[in-house]
Amino acid sequence: MTARIIDGKAVAAGLRQRIAARVAGLGYRPGLRVVRVGDDPASGVYVRNKDKAAKEVGFDSATIALPAETTEAELLAVVAQLNADPAVDGILVQLPLPPQIRAEVVISAVAPEKDADGFHPLNAGRLASGQAGLVPCTPKGVMHLLAASGAVLPGARAVVLGRSNIVGRPMAQLLLAADCTVTIVHSRTRDLPAECRRAEILVAAVGRAEMVRGDWIAEGATVIDVGINRLADGRLVGDVAYAEAAARAEAISPVPGGVGPMTIACLLENTLDAAIARRAPRGG
Ligand code: GUN
Repeated sequence: MTARIIDGKAVAAGLRQRIAARVAGLGYRPGLRVVRVGDDPASGVYVRNKDKAAKEVGFDSATIALPAETTEAELLAVVAQLNADPAVDGILVQLPLPPQIRAEVVISAVAPEKDADGFHPLNAGRLASGQAGLVPCTPKGVMHLLAASGAVLPGARAVVLGRSNIVGRPMAQLLLAADCTVTIVHSRTRDLPAECRRAEILVAAVGRAEMVRGDWIAEGATVIDVGINRLADGRLVGDVAYAEAAARAEAISPVPGGVGPMTIACLLENTLDAAIARRAPRGG
């Protein structure tokens, strides 16, 4: 079998188009502010791409670039200002932050209703208890890809490789909410290959280049590769050994061109949803 390719570029383009159409009908421009501290080059690329995509769908988007020496108190003051600004619907503080700043303190300081990343503990708790809230962008993008691929989720055995707050844990919650039978596996799991082979849907999010080999994949599985790893020779690869996995899977998302474009599209979707929820008249 050679797997069908799940084309994240195409799915993301469709989602961005639907977002642009919704924005055009609003009568105002949703406001997004991306805060970047320091000059990590990879973060620079991500932040520019987010800003560009936001402007393309008609958002009022701006990046706030702060020096690497910014203190936690200074960053918290910027977040407080954005929380209070009625023109701002979505706030994203790009991670990683410099070592003098505690990420969990900053994440908890973002107003939950403007938490475009879905990282605030209130939104994480809402997701874990099945309530509506803002959901982390990468796992949300994976759910869009699974829907586009035609995967049948209710009752499916889903295995999530990785347990980060950004991807693995919220991913497992979303699959559970979609009625999958969910297993989270990680670096301390005994016999990882055997656990992964049980998966009808496998989501790999460990950040280790080509760790998932072909013989970890069940025949006919759907494989979503969240990893983006740069090899010494400059090539970008996922967490899954693509050619080996594609020989056994029924459908697979490539790297690049799979989950990556979905993350930004879902950031826009979160910001639009936040804008509509925040600006809607209450109690009527
Ligand atoms: N750094 C890498 N991925 C992300 C993300 O999804 N959100 C934020 N804020 N920072 C990141």
